Amino acid sequence: MSRALYNPRGTTAVITGASSGLGVGYAHELARRGADLVLVARRQERLEALAVDLAERFGTVSTVIPLDLTAPDAVAELVADLTSRSIPVGTLINNAGFGTIGDFVDTDPERQVAQLRLNVLALTELTHALLPGLIATATRQSGAAALVNLASTAAFQPVPHMSVYAASKAYVLSFTESVWFETRPTGLKVLAVCPGFVHTEFAAVAGSTVPKRALTVERVISSTSAALDRPRTPPKLIVGSRNTVLAGAAVIAPIRVVLTAASRRH
Ligand SMILES: NC(=O)c1ccc[n+]([C@@H]2O[C@H](COP(=O)([O-])OP(=O)(O)OC[C@H]3O[C@@H](n4cnc5c(N)ncnc54)[C@H](OP(=O)(O)O)[C@@H]3O)[C@@H](O)[C@H]2O)c1
Repeated sequence: MSRALYNPRGTTAVITGASSGLGVGYAHELARRGADLVLVARRQERLEALAVDLAERFGTVSTVIPLDLTAPDAVAELVADLTSRSIPVGTLINNAGFGTIGDFVDTDPERQVAQLRLNVLALTELTHALLPGLIATATRQSGAAALVNLASTAAFQPVPHMSVYAASKAYVLSFTESVWFETRPTGLKVLAVCPGFVHTEFAAVAGSTVPKRALTVERVISSTSAALDRPRTPPKLIVGSRNTVLAGAAVIAPIRVVLTAASRRH
């Protein structure tokens, strides 16, 4: 078995979207590895129940911060809250996100803007605010700090009927890869996670159903963990061999073929 090279024990991890799906999975994994947690999402009762569960299982100290990250001042509020509680952050998991299915012309413009606020703006603002602290932790304690941004296989090609979502995830992937490069000398582990469909509430929120071949939350979390445990964490992780093949094909196939295939995927 390989030695765990990501060791956040004794540090604090902020996880956005911790009330459901992958966010709950990441919370369990970080707690298992000995980190304290800051759990952020809108549904406070779910975050509180998770905090109790993790305290019982792992002795984790969790701080629950209920917040709508699409609100204009939400990230500033979150950062002020962390500062006032003197919580230095060693890991940031920008996981909160949602999608919208439908032809762009028919979709609700307010929902599309909220999607961009959450998937793109909140992720960028929060990364910018917490990055100096993450770098400081990485410099002080080798292998203790990480930035994980949830992208998607939707990042690798346009996706008709999910146009804004796919574009938002292309942003997350591009942004994260640049930050990975810029912070290489610091030892900070920076990773864009690109799953395909996962069994979570995501599909229901987007207005769809989860396909049978969807990944489990456990698979995405264990793949993320393995990538963080590598001596040189790669800038991106595509979860699942089928998804890896499809993402590779999207780069080389003619755009009409790519668009036709992608439009049938949900
Ligand atoms: N599931 C998939 O098929 C899939 C595939 C590729 C990538 N992803 C990405 O994985 C990430 C996690 O999604 P998931 O699959 O775990 O979906 P999920 O079960 O729907 O979880 C989404 C999380 O985001 C939070 N969230 C939504 N709107 C928010 C807001 N305005 N402010 C704060 N938090 C908000 C939700 O909490 P509240 O509702 O309590 O606020 C929830 O905790 C997302 O970025 C998604 O794009 C998912």
